[in-house]
Amino acid sequence: MDTKLCRLKDFFASRCVLITGGTGFIGMALIEGLLTSSPDLRRIYVVVREKKGLKPVERISKLLSNEIFDHLSSEIKAKVVPILGDLTAENFGLEPTILAEIRETVTVVYHSAGLIKFNRSLQETILMNVLSTLRCIELAKSLAKLSAFIYTSSITANTNIQGKISEKVYKTKRSPKEMIMLALESPSTLDKVPEIKSDMIEGHVNSYTYSKQLAENLILEELSGFTAGIVRPALVYGFYEHRIPGWMGRSMTGQCGQIKGHIKGAVRSMYGDPNSIYYCIPCDHVINCMMALAAFLGTQEIPPKLPVVAHLCNNKTINPITMQDIVNILNEESWKNPCDTYILLPRIKIRNGLRKTIHFALCYIIALAIYIPEKLLKMAPGNMKCVSNI
Ligand SMILES: NC(=O)c1ccc[n+]([C@@H]2O[C@H](COP(=O)([O-])OP(=O)(O)OC[C@H]3O[C@@H](n4cnc5c(N)ncnc54)[C@H](OP(=O)(O)O)[C@@H]3O)[C@@H](O)[C@H]2O)c1
Repeated sequence: MDTKLCRLKDFFASRCVLITGGTGFIGMALIEGLLTSSPDLRRIYVVVREKKGLKPVERISKLLSNEIFDHLSSEIKAKVVPILGDLTAENFGLEPTILAEIRETVTVVYHSAGLIKFNRSLQETILMNVLSTLRCIELAKSLAKLSAFIYTSSITANTNIQGKISEKVYKTKRSPKEMIMLALESPSTLDKVPEIKSDMIEGHVNSYTYSKQLAENLILEELSGFTAGIVRPALVYGFYEHRIPGWMGRSMTGQCGQIKGHIKGAVRSMYGDPNSIYYCIPCDHVINCMMALAAFLGTQEIPPKLPVVAHLCNNKTINPITMQDIVNILNEESWKNPCDTYILLPRIKIRNGLRKTIHFALCYIIALAIYIPEKLLKMAPGNMKCVSNI
């Protein structure tokens, strides 16, 4: 493959990019990364759904009001164009005029939307993570010119495989399209019978990792010979809500240093072996790789035969980070970059056994006491600063 150097700024200049998952943690950082590194970029279309009564325009305007975008001018921010879409519908259910505009102008596609819940039904997970990938591929293939298609997979996508995992796509036993058909036509076959479900997920620990492997298989089947790339990040930090139970907010600023989150301080314990290796990657490394991979693929004279896969992860020898290191970073960074509202000054310890259970139970009581009024009754504590600094 051709490895000539290319500046990101030059590659993205005058280009239109399409992003799914732009309202998510990685998507938001990607939008910021693209606008910052390539101010001459023409437009970023973000496929957004309506949520909590907010329309796409309102959601994107709220997103752009996040302080990570503060350094950008309003002209630059105006390059982000929200479009209403359903990721599981053909052509995302886009309005014909906007679809025609996208087909004409977009050359780089990032598919970053995903359901990252480990306890959801196989049907729901396949529809969101695999069918949406198929829809995105179909749309990408219908573009007048596709320079790069980048899929955000996960380092956990192949956790059913023993031994070394390489930067290639591992084939699933069942084809992704067969699984999509099952999810659409006979969901009961997938989820109702536990034995069938565990057989279905081919040795994976949950439906999420299986869905990521299936989605990669779709890219292999549908986009081999195109300029397609797959990134496989480990846990991306800042951390975000659903990784750590309770209230470790959306991001903890960490080494990416940009995204300020909502660390409320209610969760005080993590459990596990403090010396175990924590597989993680700072957010800005992921974004840099996603941008560089698009530029790399988009400047190939002959497209690679297979999708290019990139692991984004530390390991035991390269930059090993232990669980204790992570806890220390969390504590240090969240004190250095406190969020606007919090309950206790963040201070986490590793606790195991009974101490962990008691501590967790106590923390949940505190968390619930704030969570219920804030989230359900919309009685946010506003500019509440610190309740306690114990
Ligand atoms: N964060 C990590 O540590 C990590 C690590 C490895 C891989 N990944 C992968 O990276 C990708 C992005 O992760 P993230 O951390 O940015 O996730 P996230 O913060 O949960 O964001 C998920 C995005 O997907 C969208 N989405 C989810 N369900 C949807 C649905 N039914 N219809 C339309 N949109 C939907 C969300 O839109 P709404 O805002 O409308 O809900 C949001 O934009 C995922 O594919 C994930 O598997 C993440």
